[in-house]
Amino acid sequence: MRPIILLLASLALPAFAAERTGAEVYEGTCSECHASGKFNAPLFGNAKRWNKLVREGLDDLVPAALGGVRKMPAKGGNPDLSDLEVARAVIYMANAGGGRFAEPSSADLARWRQKADKRSKK
Ligand code: HEC
Repeated sequence: MRPIILLLASLALPAFAAERTGAEVYEGTCSECHASGKFNAPLFGNAKRWNKLVREGLDDLVPAALGGVRKMPAKGGNPDLSDLEVARAVIYMANAGGGRFAEPSSADLARWRQKADKRSKK
């Protein structure tokens, strides 16, 4: 009996882990550019660059990250990420640069998705 329970428990794990934290998404996807400054991406923890971005606010930053802006690819080039995961990564980076943003609500996510779709049609 026991091995079966263990097996079931390990199968269930990925479902719980489906939505990654901001730190995990950052490490896995965003750090490629934001840890190196590749393409002049705003460097993680660079207060000077992020202060300005933090003042623009999440209503600007998250749609930009979802839809892409100039050399910044949509969702950081990783379409497997959910909108929530991308938003969390933005918040993780923004808070490391002086922001004080909290976990987004589903209303936030819906608004950001709408904005991103509108921007990409331009
Ligand atoms: C291939 C390189 C690359 C990757 C990977 C990448 N970015 Fe970026 N990112 C950039 C560049 C370059 C800019 C600057 C864009 C500009 O303003 O010209 C940028 C800018 C941003 C901005 C500021 C947008 C604004 O409104 O000015 C946010 C927020 C951001 N990235 C979030 C993310 C997140 C979240 C991830 C991971 C899911 C990510 N990036 C992955 C290159 C990257």
